[in-house]
Amino acid sequence: MGIKVGIIGCGSITKLRHAPEYKANPFVDEIVFYDRNPERAETLAAMFGGSVVHSVDELLEDPSIEVISDCSSNESHHIFSAKALLNGKHVLCEKPISLTLEHAQEIVDAQKQSGKKLMVDHNQRFTRAHQKAKEIIKSEELGKVLTFQTTFGHSGPEQWGVNKSNSTWFFQKERSGPGVAGDLGIHKVDLLHYLLDDEIEHVSAFQGALDKVNEHNEPIEVCDNIVCSLKTKKGRLGTASFSWTYYGEEDNSTIIYCQKGILKIYHSDQHQLEVITKDGERVQYHLENIQTNNNQTNSGVIDAFIDSILQDHPPLVTGNDALSALKVILGIIEAAETNTVVTIESVNL
Ligand SMILES: NC(=O)c1ccc[n+]([C@@H]2O[C@H](COP(=O)([O-])OP(=O)(O)OC[C@H]3O[C@@H](n4cnc5c(N)ncnc54)[C@H](O)[C@@H]3O)[C@@H](O)[C@H]2O)c1
Repeated sequence: MGIKVGIIGCGSITKLRHAPEYKANPFVDEIVFYDRNPERAETLAAMFGGSVVHSVDELLEDPSIEVISDCSSNESHHIFSAKALLNGKHVLCEKPISLTLEHAQEIVDAQKQSGKKLMVDHNQRFTRAHQKAKEIIKSEELGKVLTFQTTFGHSGPEQWGVNKSNSTWFFQKERSGPGVAGDLGIHKVDLLHYLLDDEIEHVSAFQGALDKVNEHNEPIEVCDNIVCSLKTKKGRLGTASFSWTYYGEEDNSTIIYCQKGILKIYHSDQHQLEVITKDGERVQYHLENIQTNNNQTNSGVIDAFIDSILQDHPPLVTGNDALSALKVILGIIEAAETNTVVTIESVNL
């Protein structure tokens, strides 16, 4: 008998990633959908096969469901993911793990108490170009990493989220929290921690709601752009820009400058990774394009999560990894709001 999965929240991320990737996974044989808007659950059950329930407790109290994907909006993760873990389910929680450190800690504690697997969907770690970059950095063939720059920007979540309008929860402070920093920035913070095997320790930033308006044509309550200066524990220096106003083309690029050369990731349409050495030699890797809002490919996250359950090994992104990335993002927002340099305390492991 295969694994039965329950999905909470039937919006865009479920439609484009979780549902198709569970359906394609050979060890999963049933998906049960729940959304407080039942039509959305019905639509996905019709598209991908599976059944629908009308309350979250029907999912969490069903002993035949072993795995839960928490694809609700950010303010609910701590309620659903913590409860699911304490009810004995393995949980794949969407990012950001929560809006506050206290809520994130509730999920991490629930994982410890239950002994079940918790993975958070920081999917950037999984792409082939990022995996290859990690391998090159770790081998130190380019020497040590000195500086970096990273960017993640697209034209905004009002085109992405299921309701396709400016009334989207992504624009509301209570539900979205740190705005574009929590939506896109947190991906790159986690990626930097992973690629550099390091942690961001000091941050400063500027933010603004420069262009997005809500359904009443007022500027949104959260930032649509933020630019940051970062220093890591190991002393690397870097910059990061996160934006919901890159109209026309997404930018998902990272450059890592090392002692003996440069790694350019997702910088060109022709190749996904380029290594340029001190002597000017260029090696271009043709790997796989990263998922964009308009081009969804298998992220590998669901397969990795199911594998960690079946093989009983720790997932590639743990609750503490997600908590650590959230700490940095909240520090970045604090730095921007107070015009100060903020120091981030390391997550206690
Ligand atoms: N990993 C990634 O690359 C990635 C990309 C986009 C979104 N996300 C994350 O996925 C989550 C969902 O985002 P989305 O883009 O699918 O949003 P969305 O607005 O398209 O869908 C969210 C769905 O959840 C449902 N929902 C929200 N709160 C609920 C509750 N309390 N009870 C029941 N149903 C509830 C809504 O009705 C809606 O159908 C967010 O945490 C977001 O940050 C991750």
